[in-house]
Amino acid sequence: MAVIELRGVSRRYDQGPPALDDVTLTVEPGEAVAILGPSGSGKSTMLNLIAGLDRPDAGTVSVADVRLDKLGEAATARYRRAHVGMIFQFFNLLDDLTVADNVVLPAQLAGMSRSEARKRAATLLEALGIGRHSGAYPGRLSGGQRQRVAVARALMNKPTLLLADEPTGALDSASGDDVRKLLTELNGEGQTLVLVTHDESLAAACATRTVRLVDGRIDSDTRTRMGAAR
Ligand SMILES: Nc1ncnc2c1ncn2[C@@H]1O[C@H](COP(=O)(O)OP(=O)(O)O)[C@@H](O)[C@H]1O
Ligand SMILES: [Mg+2]
Repeated sequence: MAVIELRGVSRRYDQGPPALDDVTLTVEPGEAVAILGPSGSGKSTMLNLIAGLDRPDAGTVSVADVRLDKLGEAATARYRRAHVGMIFQFFNLLDDLTVADNVVLPAQLAGMSRSEARKRAATLLEALGIGRHSGAYPGRLSGGQRQRVAVARALMNKPTLLLADEPTGALDSASGDDVRKLLTELNGEGQTLVLVTHDESLAAACATRTVRLVDGRIDSDTRTRMGAAR
């Protein structure tokens, strides 16, 4: 059964041309979908609709059987906490919280006890190879390390979907490799992934499927790699 279903989705801002124009897309659990396309082709718009950060002007958006286009504000916030982990080009960490406190935050908002959240954060940070930086502030870490913290935070609530918008866009090539590997491993463990990128090597390394957008429409949709056997 599909985990993401966009049907006839359009979104336009103000009087401009449509950022998304009648897009239909279905994603199955365990896929790693790379959304590629030139700047302005609608990639971030599509990701934001799936994340519940934006609403379509026409069409329907369902994730995990929830009709996002019908949800009110509170239900949208609940949907995001329960189902979505997101990572961004510039990490979006809170610089005056420690690494551990950044990672714990989504679980606390979801109502997990502080001690349980601390334990899970420590496990994730350890697994991601940054356990010894738990007490540090993000500003002291390299870009690659900060993106690992962001991944730990995104995984905190065991999201149905891990969404990434240009996750290697601000990294040097070694850190970029690191994040490519990490995302590929997570998908290998069964994590459904949708990533928006200009980075063809990220798509090549990590994606089981590549969707190309041009002018807000799907130009091609290709299976690129076998997913992990499950
Ligand atoms: N908040 C906004 N207000 C007005 N126009 C926007 C906004 N966000 C995106 N757009 C426009 O929508 C189109 C698609 O943008 P976007 O989804 O950000 O593309 P991409 O991520 O592929 O670069 C572009 O023409 C962009 O200028
Ligand atoms: Mg974008």
